[in-house]
Amino acid sequence: MGKINACVFISGKGTNLKNLIKKSRDYNFPINIRLIISNNKKADGIIFAKKYLIPYFIINTDTRNFEAVILKLLEKYKISLICLAGYMKIISKNFLNKFGKKIINIHPSLLPKFKGLNTFSRILIEKEKKTGCTVHYVNERLDGGTIIIQKGFFISSQDDEKSLKKRTQSLEYLAYPEALIKIYRYN
Ligand code: GRF
Repeated sequence: MGKINACVFISGKGTNLKNLIKKSRDYNFPINIRLIISNNKKADGIIFAKKYLIPYFIINTDTRNFEAVILKLLEKYKISLICLAGYMKIISKNFLNKFGKKIINIHPSLLPKFKGLNTFSRILIEKEKKTGCTVHYVNERLDGGTIIIQKGFFISSQDDEKSLKKRTQSLEYLAYPEALIKIYRYN
């Protein structure tokens, strides 16, 4: 089976991007990352596009036609999957409809709990016993699409925001690749 052409959207550090690039080098992994889009010209993650020689584009999302610009690129690179990895913009309904293919996201909580931003501080305030990460399909509702995979851990009394982030992200590096394998190898 051939590999799926994927595009990763980022806004920040790009550690999930780096992890996915590394996994996708395995000939057995279902996707190839052909394109990277960042809406932030200062995103640290752009370094991985450069290092691994993957075409990347910085998109100014303050312009009126930015979605059309992205859609053109997706067509040019024959992209059939978008992986959001720390992309801090909402995907519009118009974009979802026009792209018409799979878009997935990783979120640092056990959805449907703690949608949106500042998850770790809210999890601590709510004195949750357990947390984790979720890979899900993107629809027009924020962090609201069908769940593909979740991984969780128990919170200890020593945990703070920093440790929760670290523990959550180490699960993200397992969950995102597993979700892709689940979608393309077992469906
Ligand atoms: C991840 O924690 C992800 O769950 C959230 O944004 C963060 C991105 O981290 N959506 P990175 O840019 O992949 O390091």
